[in-house]
Amino acid sequence: MEVVIVPDAMAGGELIAEAVAALLRGKPDALLGVATGSTPLPVYQALAAQVRAGSVDASRARICQLDEYVGLPAGHPESYRSVVLREVVEPLGLGADSFMGPDGTAEDVPAACAAYDSALREAGGVDLQLLGIGTDGHIGFNEPCSSLASRTRIKTLTRQTREDNARFFERPEEVPHHVITQGIGTILEARHLVLLATGAGKADAVARAVEGPLTALVPASALQLHPHATVVVDEAAAAQL
Ligand code: GLP
Repeated sequence: MEVVIVPDAMAGGELIAEAVAALLRGKPDALLGVATGSTPLPVYQALAAQVRAGSVDASRARICQLDEYVGLPAGHPESYRSVVLREVVEPLGLGADSFMGPDGTAEDVPAACAAYDSALREAGGVDLQLLGIGTDGHIGFNEPCSSLASRTRIKTLTRQTREDNARFFERPEEVPHHVITQGIGTILEARHLVLLATGAGKADAVARAVEGPLTALVPASALQLHPHATVVVDEAAAAQL
């Protein structure tokens, strides 16, 4: 695992955007796995700026989601589909046809999970998966004790994650209890994993993921198993390394 310490979130965003741009220059139709939450926004802004400046052509890029809430109505502004369309797909000038994600509105959620897991493989696999990290060490929505071999499936959020994500909703009780997430085994199939963590609130989770033992109690520690994993942290998030 490669750990890169940058001065601040903006620098982390620019560094990762450049890695994505380099990938797209060599493979214009690369499949980019994107994460939601506040942390990766500087990456998407820096990448969109590169596209506007003409330093990278992202017109053939394909985008895929890491996870999704279950039960939010289609078009809800905080469904991860809506977030990814708003923060990534539209700013890059892509159409909805270049984007794939799990169906959080499906009647048969387990079938939707299996279909998405297969769809990722059929699309040739994820070239670069961007990840954030939860304060409890989760990646995607793989909460502590998730199997390190898990596939895309339905999960129940912990109270802490629902509290952490309540800021995106008008009322805390609106945060869904259930989600679909790529499993840890699914995530590990991406060719390059890039985890970005910024701010002092992530310092403990980063230290446990990077320097602690490999354990299902800290899902992000699974990156230690991957042959090409990059962890980009700002100085505040690196404070306990
Ligand atoms: C959610 C997402 C994760 C993300 C995490 C951290 O739980 N499912 O993919 O990494 O939030 O979010 P933030 O970057 O806002 O701290």
